[in-house]
Amino acid sequence: MSSPLDLDQATMQRLGRTVADHVAAHLAGLRQQRLFKSISRAEAAALIPSAPPASGRDFADLMGFLTERVFAHHTPEPHPGFLAYVQCCPTFPAVLGDWLATGYNFFGGAWKVASGPAMLEVTVLEWFRQWIGMPAGTGGLLTSGGSTANLMALVAARHRAVGEDPSRLARLVVYSSTQGHSSVTRAAWIAGIPRSQVRAIAVDDQFRLRPDLLRQQIQVDRDAGLLPLAVVASAGTTNTGATDPLPALAALCQAEQLWFHIDAAYGGFAALAPEGLAALEGLGLADSVTLDPHKWLYVPFECGSLLVRDPRHLFEAFHILPDYMRDLSGSSGEINFADYGEQLSRYSRALKVWLSVSYFGVDALREAIAASLERALLVERLVREQPDLELLSAARLGICCFRVRPSGTADPARLDQLNQRVLEHINGTGNFFLSTTRIADALALRVCSCGWRTTDDDIRRLVAEVAAAGAA
Ligand SMILES: Cc1ncc(COP(=O)(O)O)c(C=O)c1O
Repeated sequence: MSSPLDLDQATMQRLGRTVADHVAAHLAGLRQQRLFKSISRAEAAALIPSAPPASGRDFADLMGFLTERVFAHHTPEPHPGFLAYVQCCPTFPAVLGDWLATGYNFFGGAWKVASGPAMLEVTVLEWFRQWIGMPAGTGGLLTSGGSTANLMALVAARHRAVGEDPSRLARLVVYSSTQGHSSVTRAAWIAGIPRSQVRAIAVDDQFRLRPDLLRQQIQVDRDAGLLPLAVVASAGTTNTGATDPLPALAALCQAEQLWFHIDAAYGGFAALAPEGLAALEGLGLADSVTLDPHKWLYVPFECGSLLVRDPRHLFEAFHILPDYMRDLSGSSGEINFADYGEQLSRYSRALKVWLSVSYFGVDALREAIAASLERALLVERLVREQPDLELLSAARLGICCFRVRPSGTADPARLDQLNQRVLEHINGTGNFFLSTTRIADALALRVCSCGWRTTDDDIRRLVAEVAAAGAA
């Protein structure tokens, strides 16, 4: 007798079509949906029974339950009005790539049991390498996201510097800027670097790490008997899209013999567009680079990546060979991705990247990225035209920050309160979803325009609505 868990082909097709139809309808109707739908923990708990069901239920009922009680309570990130944080706006082929990866359930940790999918991962990593101009021989892996990629990079750097010597670990120092992403700080902590030895170097008036101050701090730390380990530069900060002076930092790292990691999780794929590539000069000079396909390469969560100039450092930091894995050890060139990162069981993230890029072609992605760079420039232009709006950071790599500032209002606290109210009003309309940050100690409305559903008309409407809300 077959297992009750074993569904026949016709049933699988019926259930699969139900899900595919549901997702297609959801995506096609995104513009009509309200953004920012959130409920409290108590409200959510009341909707979802806590006890696991002892017996099964009809799939249509379950879909109805999920639609009403679960899906209804989320902010649809691929919505054209989602301009907060860093939007993840996947293409439909990328969504299907994820489904294929889980449908086949490839084991992405070892070459021998999934050599086709492993070769696909090698292939997409090679695309990334070429796009950002790293040298041949660079290797790496796809990760759950940018945070993990930053962590893997720091672990590799740490291993190269101190191996297994715990006495030296406590003296390591990591440098980033005040605008560096929080995941860099957390990666350093997880890698065992004392919290007090993660330095946030000041930035210039364009939000770029200042190499002169970095050089001074490295000297101070060396004089104090500490061991400078790595510089983590940003190529597209989350706050303002700024790119640190990568060539100068690469030269400094070489002179000081420090690992040079670039966190290009947000900005890196802008290299596909000529304007983006120009803004990212020096990306290829790093020892390692983080790039997030689930940001600007339009694949669904989760997908980050790490490229390492000399992948042996990754291998040496992570490789481990227990008896029960010996028969999976690969021959030369056959990459066991489990030897290059923290995950043993891992799924094939390459499927979604490969399917989306191959379905549309690189030119289409290049155009989408170029258009999103343009949209941030449009925000900047429109803000400059409105007398009661103040530009706080010019458009850089798809991000522009501004605030409402009616003439005659100078009090910083009142301006913050006004902009908080404007944000709540805009998000309350359900048409747009914005987030804030702080720029030069002012509350800023931040627009990140990397999604491909957003149009120029959306941007015009948003800026007009913000100006009107500020005046109300
Ligand atoms: C610059 C930068 N680095 C790292 C991260 C962390 O990436 P993830 O959320 O994929 O872990 C982000 C996320 O927004 C980011 O913008």
